Amino acid sequence: MKKELIYLDNAATSHPKPQAVYKKVDLVLRKIGGNPGRASHRMAMEAGRVVFNAREAVARLINSPDSSRVAFTKNATEAINIGLKGVLRPKDHVISTVAEHNSVVKTLAALKDAGVEVTKIALDDQGFARLKDIKAAVKKNTRAVAMTHASNVYGGLQPVEEMSRFCRSRGITFILDAAQTAGASPIDVKKWGLDVLAATGHKSCLGPQGTGFIYVRPGIELPPLLNGGTGDFDTILEMPERLEAGTLNAPGIAGLGAGVEFVLKEGVAKIRAHELGLVAALLKGLAGIKGVKIIGTQDPLKRVSLVAFTMEGITPAEAGTRLDERYSIMVRTGVLCAPEAHRRAGTHPLGAIRVSPGYFTTHKHIERFLKAMREIAR
Ligand SMILES: Cc1ncc(COP(=O)(O)O)c(C=O)c1O
Repeated sequence: MKKELIYLDNAATSHPKPQAVYKKVDLVLRKIGGNPGRASHRMAMEAGRVVFNAREAVARLINSPDSSRVAFTKNATEAINIGLKGVLRPKDHVISTVAEHNSVVKTLAALKDAGVEVTKIALDDQGFARLKDIKAAVKKNTRAVAMTHASNVYGGLQPVEEMSRFCRSRGITFILDAAQTAGASPIDVKKWGLDVLAATGHKSCLGPQGTGFIYVRPGIELPPLLNGGTGDFDTILEMPERLEAGTLNAPGIAGLGAGVEFVLKEGVAKIRAHELGLVAALLKGLAGIKGVKIIGTQDPLKRVSLVAFTMEGITPAEAGTRLDERYSIMVRTGVLCAPEAHRRAGTHPLGAIRVSPGYFTTHKHIERFLKAMREIAR
């Protein structure tokens, strides 16, 4: 008998998507078809409405009173590049952490080559960054703090609200990478006073791959990463078109809108409660397996829905292959695009095994995964 496939790699990209997402993408491709914002005929207008509705849904998700402050991107990486490259100039100083994903790490490395000064603060043993370390790193030329809301290796929710407030009080731009949290954990750009937020659409927002977004608070105008769009050669575009040069991924954005509508309908709190139940079961089950070492906090309430760990006697890559081939279980293994976080965790260069349940994961799936891990351990 063929085994049911168990997908536990939602931190890389979520699967499956809500039915409404498949339907919406199909509808836009088959029936709507026009280029949003590029004509006044009904198909283009309808495509424009679909994009607008998706923007409104994303704005509601992050509590942005004005949806025009949300621009669509192809992923979080593009949004992070727009944020960092838009804010930082040679001789500026930026503070970040050693928990970052390569989308931040490599962008900062490129900016360093261009003359930007970079300081990376350490993490505590559980993988949390501390406000006091940010405060201590601030210099006269500190222009920005850029950090993740939740590391894709450590999985802990960083105390970003206090960091955002501190930055605002000092006139430092706070750039938040919410790739692992948007749709899975509450985000309030207004209450937290966030300056710039970057996120993916294809993880917990439950949209298709090739989607993401950036929020830029009123009062900050970032230059575009790509030039183009409508108007004359010297037309300065307003948000959101300013950051959206070129034809939009209308089917993808429509799917993202449907994903976010689903999240809003279910409620982030309910989604988080379900996922944390699964994470608690995972942490408990893994702790009982000999040779397993979990990266990050043992407290599920401080986590997002991912647990990375190593296991004595087997490399992460071998464990991943065995889980897939023998048990039909999909997890992520290796260095999870965050080499500095792995160095801090002592898991470089082999990396870790990362299990990331999603909203459609059940406790049965987790039990099957834990049973497989116990067998592999033996
Ligand atoms: C913490 C974090 N930041 C940024 C990204 C980049 O997201 P994307 O691949 O959608 O650009 C990821 C993706 O795994 C991530 O986990």
